[in-house]
Amino acid sequence: MKHYTSINDIDNIDIWIKEAQSLKRNPLNYNHLGQNKTLGLLFFNSSLRTRLSTQKAALNLGMNPIVMNVSGDAWGLEFEDGTVMNGSTAEHIKEAAAVVSQYCDIIAVRAFPTLTDKAKDESEQVLQAFKNYASVPIVNMESATGHPLQGLTDALTISEFKIKPRPKVVLSWAPHIKVLPHAVANSFTQAMQNMDVEFVIANPEGYDLNPKITGNTKIYHNQEEAFKDADFIYTKNWSSYNDYGKVINTDSKWMITKNKIGDAKFMHCLPVRRNVVVEDAVLDSDNSIVIQQANNRTYAAQLVLKKILEDL
Ligand code: CP
Repeated sequence: MKHYTSINDIDNIDIWIKEAQSLKRNPLNYNHLGQNKTLGLLFFNSSLRTRLSTQKAALNLGMNPIVMNVSGDAWGLEFEDGTVMNGSTAEHIKEAAAVVSQYCDIIAVRAFPTLTDKAKDESEQVLQAFKNYASVPIVNMESATGHPLQGLTDALTISEFKIKPRPKVVLSWAPHIKVLPHAVANSFTQAMQNMDVEFVIANPEGYDLNPKITGNTKIYHNQEEAFKDADFIYTKNWSSYNDYGKVINTDSKWMITKNKIGDAKFMHCLPVRRNVVVEDAVLDSDNSIVIQQANNRTYAAQLVLKKILEDL
């Protein structure tokens, strides 16, 4: 595999899940594969899980990870072509990506959307620029429209915890005080569409995700109806897609409660705001598998890095 920037880069999700499970059982089995190879992790935004689990994955493969907080520590980067750079940006992505490629065998990038400019976000300006100007493979650690390491993790987690061949999985919007991206919800939707599950989405009116991503997936505007007979309830807030980047509803009636979920397993990519998105009684119960889910971030990242290393 050359790059991993989207769930669409997974050729067969069932096979990938089996491979990730195998890595999880024996995480050091391929610890010579990455010897003398360097993974550069470039963060334009904050992270806990992605930053640590991707480094852990690299270390398990014998790689040397190096990390940079680009926004805080690097020169201000210019992404537009032909700009007269007499403003705040000091270095063009053309040089920056090419230079980082001299030090790293794989580059992983986190760059969130603007949530003000839909066209720019959908063009994946930052991720695409790294693909265009770096000479090494690129891994998406959450971009403007996707979080495919998280999506693969979530598929792995559902496969581990399902107790029936074709479980019902619900992606539910929940309230939040901030304007949040669509990336996690998009990649989770794409992952579930490729798995043998009954997958539905629940969100208030005005919060339907990009129809190009939801496709034929059933969308409920009634959470209670969507939750009926659910085996997994995956919760995430996102801002409006139609009224791009706006918070049009913070209705606390959409918060996830113990009463609502019944026997279903509760999933969330984390970080999560307690008693805003989901009540304590859910997160502190055995229904919650958010910690096991976060643990799987390492094996999803390890599988992606392994596949890229094998093709270097
Ligand atoms: N779920 C996730 O990507 O977590 P971080 O933002 O902490 O990396």
